[in-house]
Amino acid sequence: MPASCDACGLRGHRTEARGLEDAVRCRRSHRCLSRTCDPVRGARTSSALRKTIMSKADPSGAAQIRGHVQRLLDEAASFDEQRNAARALFEDLCAQVGIDPLDPDAADEEQSSLPAGDAISPLDAARCVNDFARTRAFIRGVVQAVSAARRRLDQGPVRVIYAGCGPFAPLFLPIAHLWAPDEVRVLLLDCHRRSLDAARRVAELLEVEDRVEGFVQTDAVTYQCESDWRPHVCIVETMQRALAKEPQVSIVSNLAGQMAPGGLMVPEQIELHLALLNIERELAGQGPAGRRELGCVMRLSGAGASCTEVVWPDDVPNGLEPCICTRIRVFGDIWLSDHESGLTTPMPLWDLPGIRPGQTIRFDYELTPRPHLVYEPI
Ligand SMILES: C[S@@+](CC[C@H](N)C(=O)[O-])C[C@H]1O[C@@H](n2cnc3c(N)ncnc32)[C@H](O)[C@@H]1O
Repeated sequence: MPASCDACGLRGHRTEARGLEDAVRCRRSHRCLSRTCDPVRGARTSSALRKTIMSKADPSGAAQIRGHVQRLLDEAASFDEQRNAARALFEDLCAQVGIDPLDPDAADEEQSSLPAGDAISPLDAARCVNDFARTRAFIRGVVQAVSAARRRLDQGPVRVIYAGCGPFAPLFLPIAHLWAPDEVRVLLLDCHRRSLDAARRVAELLEVEDRVEGFVQTDAVTYQCESDWRPHVCIVETMQRALAKEPQVSIVSNLAGQMAPGGLMVPEQIELHLALLNIERELAGQGPAGRRELGCVMRLSGAGASCTEVVWPDDVPNGLEPCICTRIRVFGDIWLSDHESGLTTPMPLWDLPGIRPGQTIRFDYELTPRPHLVYEPI
């Protein structure tokens, strides 16, 4: 892969900027991983689901948007078809809500530095749709989670809270029509007013406003649910690889404690693993040959966050370097694994100090305005 892949993979360009072009270039180089190792292939889009997604065709643009989502979820779609579907979804939604990616308004580019982490701008949040393996896996996970919650409920709608919905709320609004208004209610949270206004437009376009409980401008790290509105499903995707910079950990900690009994999180679990690997070769799509897994160093789920220690090996083969690999169990058996998404591109630990063979490394996670994993040999 040319230097462009280095730029987005090694230096985290994609995770800094979540740029469309870089993410797409990166994906292309990892075709083997997404097609042969894709754990979400098993989660078929049933023909019933496909038909329902397409059932509300109308001339307003909603039908086109549903068509893109259908292709994105279609198990039979090729890598290129999925990527193109995500790109078309991004472009059509931008047009619908008035975001011009080539000449954005100031409000579309405004990011916020909040006490528990960065909130990326509405435009960058919109661009997340283009990380198509992520978008596909999360939408499938949400379908499964809401269906599971419905099976458990005796009566009343499934209450879904979606923290950090961005301008499109793409992980819920395009599939909201799968359930009747009395079967599901979603509360959309974001700290950016521009994003919420855009999400309202998307809900209107897709004719699912009657499934929306509210559009709330708030910091999801401190948001308190009404005591009679405890969510059954919580969707949070406010993260970058290695859980750096964005407030995923703090938002999950706040909302998980406010769920209805047995509440379901999407993603269900995020794991950070330490591995020795040849990042240049892997980013060039040459596979993980020679990789050494050293162990899971952090787990985040609705039950909380925990960090552990790992032992450095006695010998480190030439050419391998320590990286943090982010692995996301979106829901059930739907995983995002290494290199599949910008969220799971391994992050080299450039600043890991000299370590003696057999030494233990302690990992911790610092909750600061720029939250991040910390590590030290002990
Ligand atoms: C990575 S984007 C994801 C957008 C969308 N959910 C998706 O999956 O494509 C994260 C979103 O979370 C919002 N956000 C970040 N921190 C937040 C916070 N503390 N409270 C509320 N929203 C936040 C950002 O404004 C942004 O819209």
